[in-house]
Amino acid sequence: MPQIGLHYIVVPFTNNHQRRLTMDFRPALSRSTADLLTSLFRIASVISLVFLDAPTVDAQPNHAPKTSAEKFKNVWVLSDMPADQMGKVMNMMSASLGVNCSFCHEGTNFAKEGVGHKDAGRKMISMTLGLNKEFFGGKTEVTCNTCHQGKSKPVSNVELTQAKPIVRIHQPQFQPSADDILAKHIQAVGGKQKLDSIKNRHVIAKRREIHGGSEPEELWQTSNGLTRMVTQYGSVSVVEGFDGSQAWKRVNENAIELKPDEAEQIKLEAVIAFGSNMHTMYSEFAFQSADRIEDREVIVLSGLNPSKMPERLSFDSQTGLLRRRVLSVATLLGEFEYQVDYVEYQEFGGILQPTKIRFAVPNITWTREVTKIEINTEIDESIFRLR
Ligand code: HEC
Ligand code: HEC
Repeated sequence: MPQIGLHYIVVPFTNNHQRRLTMDFRPALSRSTADLLTSLFRIASVISLVFLDAPTVDAQPNHAPKTSAEKFKNVWVLSDMPADQMGKVMNMMSASLGVNCSFCHEGTNFAKEGVGHKDAGRKMISMTLGLNKEFFGGKTEVTCNTCHQGKSKPVSNVELTQAKPIVRIHQPQFQPSADDILAKHIQAVGGKQKLDSIKNRHVIAKRREIHGGSEPEELWQTSNGLTRMVTQYGSVSVVEGFDGSQAWKRVNENAIELKPDEAEQIKLEAVIAFGSNMHTMYSEFAFQSADRIEDREVIVLSGLNPSKMPERLSFDSQTGLLRRRVLSVATLLGEFEYQVDYVEYQEFGGILQPTKIRFAVPNITWTREVTKIEINTEIDESIFRLR
């Protein structure tokens, strides 16, 4: 399933009962899906993640999740890892080394052996898992990034020049409560009364890729959490939404399977846009620390989102505005994090709304630049359903 940004595309395989997938997924695809994927590769200048996924419908629904050995062809060291972590782990490995998939793979034939640094990668995976097992009681303390830090060959020597001054962050003596911090944010964007008067938003934006290209985006969101977003890659539209009970996604007419963390991201973005009911979304919500994002001091709250995944929310200490949201998903090789930065806010309809939002996952970054927001417009609620 090629992924463009957070746009995961599941490749529908024809044979549901196949234990292991064929070498190259292309022959297994229907003609139209193969064409679609090829055009997506062309349109998005970076192939962020090409990844395979099996159909949702399994013969035995109560079966344990598939392991990587069951689903993929040539996995020997990641064999016991749940198959749905494969894409995340591969992206984290690439990001840790500062490389693309092609450092270890040839095109989309990921199962092919003897390519690039694949064997070296395999040895390193064994070493990393071994270190954690032998020295850290099986906890994922050492990851690729512990040593590599964005370089394919780690730097062993101490850096002598360019020493950065250590910024000490003053930890507050009295820790603010999560409620106080949220109340300050709501006040900062315009107050509860104004927020409550907003029933829906229609947003026109651009998705700007890190290498300069951009695609038009359009969003519809309601205060009770319904959402729909369309990103147009040339003739290919990627559409995602939440209809009140289910999050969904499709590429042109092909529906896509969402993992729980992906579904959660789609739902949460709509809630965050309205601010006022944020406190009901998180459990065990509490002060974590004071920190810094670029030159601003922030207060970090941590909590569990509705799917019980840990999140950290950072609020500007002075303005009170939400500045960053980070969702963590545990994998065999460390935490896969989604980071959403609310970089700029502007006033629309009497409240401050984020107009520049930067999204990042390991190996992929893009920015949403909002050009227009209409408030309380006519919206036909059927658009929030998958169709
Ligand atoms: C540093 C090397 C390295 C990089 C970079 C890398 N991979 Fe891998 N990949 C491997 C290794 C090693 C395996 C086999 C793991 C095993 O034996 O358990 C593998 C296996 C896979 C498989 C399973 C293939 C099969 O059916 O056997 C997929 C899919 C995959 N990688 C996708 C990707 C994608 C997509 C990227 C880029 C986002 C990527 N990889 C980047 C080293 C790498
Ligand atoms: C304990 C430190 C450490 C960890 C953890 C670690 N590596 Fe390495 N890795 C190294 C060192 C040191 C080298 C360089 C060896 C050399 O120069 O020959 C290296 C080299 C490599 C290379 C070969 C690069 C080249 O240009 O030849 C690959 C690929 C690689 N590591 C992948 C990984 C992956 C993937 C992970 C995580 C699963 C990982 N490493 C975890 C220390 C580490």
